[in-house]
Amino acid sequence: MKNTQDPSRVHFNDEDSNTSSNPSFESVLSARLSRRSILRGSVGTVATTMLGAASLSACGGGDDDTPSVTPTTPVNTPLKALGFAAVAKSLEDKVSVPAGYSFSVIYALGDPLRASTAAYKNDGTDTDYENRAGDHHDGMEWFGLAADGKPSTTAADRGLLGMNHEATTDEVRSSFFLHANGGTSTLPRPASEVDKELAIHGVSVVEVKKASDGKWSYIKDSAFNFRVTTLTDVEISGPARGNKLLITKYSPTGTKTRGTLNNCGTGKTPWGTLLTGEENWAGYFTRNATDNAARGNDKSVTALNRYGRSQGAASRHGWESAGSEDKYARWNNSKLGASADGSDDYRNELNGQGYIVEIDAYDKSKLAKKRTGLGRFAHESAAFGTPVVGKPLAAYMGDDSRGEYIYKFVSAANWDAADANPANRMAAGDKYLDSGKLYVAKFAADGTGQWIELALSTAAIAGYASYAFADQADICVNTRLAADAVGATKMDRPEWCSVNPVNGEVYFALTNNSNRRVEPSGSSQMAPDSANPRVYTDVKGGTTNQTGNPNGHILRIKEGAAGSAATSFTWDVYLFGAESTAAAGSVNLSSLTSDQDLSSPDGLVFSPSTGICWIQTDDGAYTDVTNCMMLAAIPGQVGDGAKKTLSYTKADGGALNVDTFVGKAPTADTLKRFLVGPKDCEITGLCETPDGKALFINVQHPGEGTAMANVADPSKYTSQWPSNAGYGAGKRPRSATIVITKNDAAASAADRASSQGL
Ligand code: FEO
Ligand code: CA
Ligand code: CA
Repeated sequence: MKNTQDPSRVHFNDEDSNTSSNPSFESVLSARLSRRSILRGSVGTVATTMLGAASLSACGGGDDDTPSVTPTTPVNTPLKALGFAAVAKSLEDKVSVPAGYSFSVIYALGDPLRASTAAYKNDGTDTDYENRAGDHHDGMEWFGLAADGKPSTTAADRGLLGMNHEATTDEVRSSFFLHANGGTSTLPRPASEVDKELAIHGVSVVEVKKASDGKWSYIKDSAFNFRVTTLTDVEISGPARGNKLLITKYSPTGTKTRGTLNNCGTGKTPWGTLLTGEENWAGYFTRNATDNAARGNDKSVTALNRYGRSQGAASRHGWESAGSEDKYARWNNSKLGASADGSDDYRNELNGQGYIVEIDAYDKSKLAKKRTGLGRFAHESAAFGTPVVGKPLAAYMGDDSRGEYIYKFVSAANWDAADANPANRMAAGDKYLDSGKLYVAKFAADGTGQWIELALSTAAIAGYASYAFADQADICVNTRLAADAVGATKMDRPEWCSVNPVNGEVYFALTNNSNRRVEPSGSSQMAPDSANPRVYTDVKGGTTNQTGNPNGHILRIKEGAAGSAATSFTWDVYLFGAESTAAAGSVNLSSLTSDQDLSSPDGLVFSPSTGICWIQTDDGAYTDVTNCMMLAAIPGQVGDGAKKTLSYTKADGGALNVDTFVGKAPTADTLKRFLVGPKDCEITGLCETPDGKALFINVQHPGEGTAMANVADPSKYTSQWPSNAGYGAGKRPRSATIVITKNDAAASAADRASSQGL
């Protein structure tokens, strides 16, 4: 969902639930780790990718205390330079890619997923969304298929895309492009409208294939295709399974819930399943105005408030109003029944959302599982550290709301290479994701940081005055409260994270934060700190002041000597988002040029084939100048830049100095804009074929700024993409997957390997 500061729209990303008074850098932390970080990735084989071949880069040992990391992903020798010509910023209603590359639309909102489903008319009269592509395509992963239909890690011309359908384009409750007349903004909402909206959220898995002419398309009647919607049966797994916090009328045993919701970032497990993060799910639920008293003001009220559902909170769509049927009633999270345990109502229904959910993309007969061990918050992606045989796996995650935290899950089981291709993929998930330790990050001003375990054995959690944790399940369900208790660092909205396959360092996109202030007022504002050091004003459209950190930054960490199980790390800021014309000493700290400048990084995915760091934006701050975009980057490593002190002046004239660590500035060869999307879109989700020749990305919510009153007048849509790119019926804008290829894809590998150019 777009991160605009436009107050005329309701924005469910813009949550301010973290009113904890966590300090930023008061604590003196453990011994500082060496900041000398020498890249020690092994040199892989040179292969030819969409972006061409690369020259060898030097790798070396060193005398620092970092463990050697051997990438298990076959990174083709790390690139030294990006050879394509940068794409200019653009406000045009089209997708722009560099000269020499092409894109095509292959899978858009409403496209049928079985032969018997009617073609999408795209006029608001379509139904049967359980068998169509959902809306707001987001995170996406590739699952290769061999010619015989078996899973393959090398197949590059046939595979499944597993992708999120995060949300819908709304104005006052109604997903208006889905309804012929724009739908109903008032309560009660008609069941006919709500049924469409319930089915269009979730996940889809769709087969895609490359034809002999090199053209990609999705396979409408593939037996692999399936949807997971808000109504699909899903298992609760991990520490919270069967806990009383999960008891509902639907699942009196607390072992199941229905559906997955507001799915944003993704991840792919080392054993070949899809992980999907449930992000802004809380806003879909309502609570009655007197629900605190109905609950006897018990500790569930504290939990609900912390997750953004204070009593009287209205739901995003009003789904609870569509009738007495259970599928509507569940969206009212109030205590309505007389039972002591919640088995006669949906007072606990909110606890069934907010997880990393595992799905076997290859097998639609398997129930998805909510992996509660990875915590409950506004999840984005889940990125695994490079697996090392005999060591635990680490999965990194962010909580995307202003002032929320960064997390790590460490498996109890050590990695067994035989599990890379298991007979039962969901059982591998049980093994690695249901038992382990959950940590939250605390950043220090000296460039170090700590992972603090979220467990009852942590004194600050056992003795937390604001909330009495009963057990580990309670910590898994109320993760934000546990992280508050240990004084985790409030971040500038953690979005995607991804692991650099070259050296194992972990990158986190911190998209923006309108609540950073030199002198915070109120419990939701926060002062700058070393890991979130900027407070500035960015002017939009010549008149609108955007304050805080409107452009965001990308932070990276390097784990300590224990690798995945490390409890300390070093960090720096790889890149600060900024306009190229912004003040160099305080805002444009990464010295971005007009070919590189960006605002609000969100999607962040390292290519396993090239090691390129793809950066995607979901921006509302720079959109007076450019639509959202995707950039290619070749980053260095933690510690390659320098310390920098930012000086602020308080109202009383006093000084506030904030030390931070700025990564080495990118050059024209190491950061370039690769793509600009159509009007009012977000660019998100990325996966590629194993040979690197086809890159899939998603264009989410083009035309989002259209007024609902104009739904019947295409001339007033802010975007008509992708119909204006020749795809599909009707002119209503549609979220869609595109595939990008290099025009010389037919050239021989030898020709391309010698070209050296990207
Ligand atoms: Fe769905 Fe945080 O973006
Ligand atoms: Ca501006
Ligand atoms: Ca996102």
